[in-house]
Amino acid sequence: MKRLIFPADFFWGAATSSHQVEGNNRNNDWWRWEQSGGGAEPSGTACNQYELYEKDFDLAASLGHTCHRFSVEWSRIQPDERTFSEKEIGHYLRVVEALRRRRIEPIVTLHHFTNPVWFDRIGGWYNPKAPEYFAAYVRRVVEALGAAVTYWVTINEPMVLWYYGFLRGAWPPFGTSLVRARLAHSHLLRAHVLAYRGIHCHYQRHGLARPAVSIAHNMVAFVPCRDTFLDRAAAALRHRAYNLGILQTLLRRRTLDYIGLNYYTRHLVHARGCSVNELLIETCRDRHDVLPKNSMGWEIYPQGLLDILRLLKRLKLPVFILENGICTENDGQRWEYIRDHLAKVHQAIAEGVKVKGYCYWSLLDNFEWDKGFRPRFGMIGVDYATQERQVRESARRYAEVCRSGAIEAE
Ligand code: FCB
Repeated sequence: MKRLIFPADFFWGAATSSHQVEGNNRNNDWWRWEQSGGGAEPSGTACNQYELYEKDFDLAASLGHTCHRFSVEWSRIQPDERTFSEKEIGHYLRVVEALRRRRIEPIVTLHHFTNPVWFDRIGGWYNPKAPEYFAAYVRRVVEALGAAVTYWVTINEPMVLWYYGFLRGAWPPFGTSLVRARLAHSHLLRAHVLAYRGIHCHYQRHGLARPAVSIAHNMVAFVPCRDTFLDRAAAALRHRAYNLGILQTLLRRRTLDYIGLNYYTRHLVHARGCSVNELLIETCRDRHDVLPKNSMGWEIYPQGLLDILRLLKRLKLPVFILENGICTENDGQRWEYIRDHLAKVHQAIAEGVKVKGYCYWSLLDNFEWDKGFRPRFGMIGVDYATQERQVRESARRYAEVCRSGAIEAE
């Protein structure tokens, strides 16, 4: 056993998103889909965090967390095209202040998969004006929360949203046309660029200290199945298209202050031929090189996090790990997942990667999108019948790490 010591100013925390924990987000595209029978089950009251946030933040504080990532819900803040709700803006200001009072650094996400119904009706991300609509919403949020927030995430996982929502037709808005998907992609990126500039402009105008703005980018370790030219080429292609494309575009536009990284798993790449589908999409269905999996079947592969952090070092920006976690019925496995990934983060830091902090996904069990409530990602369990919280052993072990800034690992 070795004791791995992290930098003293490293941020420790956990993440959530509005639709997954708040409950009763009745005015967005996901809610509407759930009500029509879409997905495994409706989100309903979820974890009722809209009302219970103070209690949840008490738990986070008691567990030694020093940062917390959450999202503000666009459909609450802007219920229709012409209205911003002062009541909801006031709510999120209280949320931020509740974190600050507990000395927890807020990391605020502005878009985490859900869109207001009105936005969807006017074409959503296909609408050429979508970036301007998003920027107007962001301006309003930043006017209200700017003085109390330093870390911003404009859009959560644009690639995941794009893939499931615009290409595979699995999530709202169920797009499947490549031509239209490209349009939505460029609007999402432009929305980030406008939001980035809007946020910086606000801070400059008000003489506030420079904020740190990024996206939360989902990155996957693409590993060739066999040591063949085709598998290696397909893995490299996917890596370029999925992991690097968006970062390169946003770096060229100079609109990332840090890299927000979401990392969960690897994909084994086994290309059976040279069609677009085989090269870029199909996953390996063979039973070889099998790794332990989470309860949704994602392989557990800490080495992938190290490989990705090493790669990000070249971009010369600090990295903030905004999501990393496991859904499992076995809390011991959760702790091992956290420990093994943190050991890789430590190694990356020792090799010179500037990692600023780590947010476990998730603080609480919550609504896992089309999979419903069954996957248990939380380091705090939720009894959905009573809304009681149960602090799991993994949360306690993680708390020791948060407090000491060190981890015991092999
Ligand atoms: C990420 C999402 C997050 C959560 C985890 C498990 O892709 O950003 O909302 O669902 O996966």
